[in-house]
Amino acid sequence: MIDGRVSRRSVLMGGAAIAAWSASPVSAMLRRIDPGKDAGTIDKLIAQMTLEEKAGQLNLLASAWGGGIATALNPPGGNSDFPKQVADAVAGKLTGVFNGNGAAMAMQMQRAVMSGSRLKIPLMFAADIIHGHRTIFPVPVAEAASFEPELAERTARVAAYEAAGSGVDWTFAPMVDIARDQRWGRTMEGAGEDVVLGCLFAAARVRGFQGSSLDADDAMLSCAKHFAAYGAAEAGLDYSTVDVSERTLRDVYLRPFKAAFDSGALSTMASFNEISGVPSTGNHWLMTDLLRGEWGFKGFVVSDYTGDEEMIAHGFAKDRRDAARIAFLAGVDMSMQSGVYTEHLPSLVRDGAVPQALLDGSVRRVLAMKAKLGLFDNPFRRIDLKREKSRSRLPASLALAREAAVKSCVLLKNDGNLLPLSPSATIALIGPFGSVGQDLNGPWVVYGDNKQAIDLPAGIRTAMKGRGRLTVVAGSGVESAIPGGIEAAVAAARGADVVLLAIGESEAMSGEAKSRTEIVMPAPQQALAEAIAATGKPVVVLLRNGRALALEGAVKAAPAILVTWFLGSEMGNGVADLLFGAASPSGRLPMSFPIASGQEPYHYDHKPTGRPNGPGKLQEYKAHYQGVPNEALYAFGHGLTYGDMRYSNLVIDAPTMAWGGSLGVTATVTNAGRVAAEEVVQLYIRDRVASVTRPVRELKAFRKIRLAAGASAQVMFKLSRAELEFIGMGLKPTVEPGTFDVWIAPSAQADGVHSTFELGAA
Ligand code: NOJ
Repeated sequence: MIDGRVSRRSVLMGGAAIAAWSASPVSAMLRRIDPGKDAGTIDKLIAQMTLEEKAGQLNLLASAWGGGIATALNPPGGNSDFPKQVADAVAGKLTGVFNGNGAAMAMQMQRAVMSGSRLKIPLMFAADIIHGHRTIFPVPVAEAASFEPELAERTARVAAYEAAGSGVDWTFAPMVDIARDQRWGRTMEGAGEDVVLGCLFAAARVRGFQGSSLDADDAMLSCAKHFAAYGAAEAGLDYSTVDVSERTLRDVYLRPFKAAFDSGALSTMASFNEISGVPSTGNHWLMTDLLRGEWGFKGFVVSDYTGDEEMIAHGFAKDRRDAARIAFLAGVDMSMQSGVYTEHLPSLVRDGAVPQALLDGSVRRVLAMKAKLGLFDNPFRRIDLKREKSRSRLPASLALAREAAVKSCVLLKNDGNLLPLSPSATIALIGPFGSVGQDLNGPWVVYGDNKQAIDLPAGIRTAMKGRGRLTVVAGSGVESAIPGGIEAAVAAARGADVVLLAIGESEAMSGEAKSRTEIVMPAPQQALAEAIAATGKPVVVLLRNGRALALEGAVKAAPAILVTWFLGSEMGNGVADLLFGAASPSGRLPMSFPIASGQEPYHYDHKPTGRPNGPGKLQEYKAHYQGVPNEALYAFGHGLTYGDMRYSNLVIDAPTMAWGGSLGVTATVTNAGRVAAEEVVQLYIRDRVASVTRPVRELKAFRKIRLAAGASAQVMFKLSRAELEFIGMGLKPTVEPGTFDVWIAPSAQADGVHSTFELGAA
């Protein structure tokens, strides 16, 4: 951690810098800028800028503060000299920095720029605030399991409140990439495999980060990333090639981006991958024709970390100058980390290879954003050392982290109602994730501290309140055995009523660049699970994971399995709330858990084949792998509660939906169990015959309801023609009359209740 102390003198110097800024002519010109109405004012500033200063506004670097700690989450950046970085900022070579460590750093840099630079254009501070700042919330895919977008809006709001309180103007989030291949490690950072869920969470997170007004001191600009199709990497290998039809691109991968932009996101990040031969960073069709032309996007585009320079390795640019030219002409306004824009844009303009007007256009967009963020009004708007502390980890924020932790867990299995447990039980907490206070926050945390998070033993002990007994034994490391570990764990299991087996992936096994070929339990932990199962004690598996896993052997066979992901600051308390029944599980899988790794990429909304095998027995010359059914072990949408939910009585308003009309579809859901619980009621359709083949099922809507023990509710969805649209021939949204299946069901694979309806002719 970096020293966040700041002297009284530097605070006063901050005041002096504000005074210098206030008195400057540029400030007088810009302070009341409304970027919408007053573009002319920004143009006057642009007219005063040299080509080098313009390129500087398009150059974003990892912070060099603390010797370059900001690059800990990225490849080493070479910029570890903070005084030099400050000097470069004063010389107008930088638009801002990212992942620096808080208000002290921002104060120093902004102060230097405001007092020493020629034009006094404020810096903009960015950071990867992915699932919290100091209060850490569940990893995004876990939060998606809540099927409660408003929850993600609330956690993003708190993240913005804390991060903006410490100087962050701009977050590189939300990641809205659809992930259909669980070998890809960045699954943990999105909302899973489904488009509708992805769109709702994308929009909610943007609302949360940006708040009601971008110039507020608790709002951050959001950045929908990675544009586009980054999650479709071949074989789930991060950074690898994407080859996808424009239809699937539009039908699936682009939709959450559109939802994020419609929700107000005003920046986007070019993805590292190529799409069908063209790297996104150099893709004029994607960045300009589609994004700005067709969609009317008014924000700016930033490359990913050295993504422009990486077009050389892609074999798409011959050198750094070529990379700068290609990326810029494609429509990437800002370069992250490579420095190719400052190095080459001025001479590219002088040589006529890049039109000056285009350069001015990008600079205008960036300056307009700084104005929108309120930085021209007050460059120190979000930089406040007191606020940085006073907003950090407030009780209400931690309470929200606990609520989010509870709502993110997914109960896959609960044979014989093993859960909830009695707090008076003798419990053995076994496994590498039971004994250590790490791997709680999960990947992609810049500012949070695992040591501050509540681990499982702490949460469980608090909930047991001195009743019962808890023994904690690691039994195994994450990827390596511990000598004598299994023996110690077996002894602990023998002495217990029940075993909690906390096993899975470490933080280092999921996230960026963490692709896996086999999404299985590491061998030493599997061996531990087998040995524990052999004791005959009842086992509750507590999975730690950032992706879906293919469960095998004793893990798969355990009577109870709870997916606990990486839940952040309140992990131990959240899990304990569920274990002892203070709360009933309500999460649902945002991605399918396959039977075997080799089924990946797996997504429930796949197309039918000409030789479908159908559920059940494997048939000759039908589409299936040898010996493995096509189904998921646990499908998208699956999740149990401590209640017992039954579906009955599907009623459709009318057999036919009129072309311009809508249709009510209603089911009765009953909680036949003995405790109140929340159910995520899901509506799926299938378009039976269309001019372009359609998936076997598509989620169209869902609703979370709470039912007391024994209670029933009628859950009604309204379907209209818009929900039946797909990208048809000619790549246009299309909808065709005909027969549709409709299910209201507890998962993508469950029968629930089913019927059909017709869409009438136009
Ligand atoms: C690379 C990642 O792909 C991106 O998501 C992140 O925002 C940048 N590094 C900056 O840390």
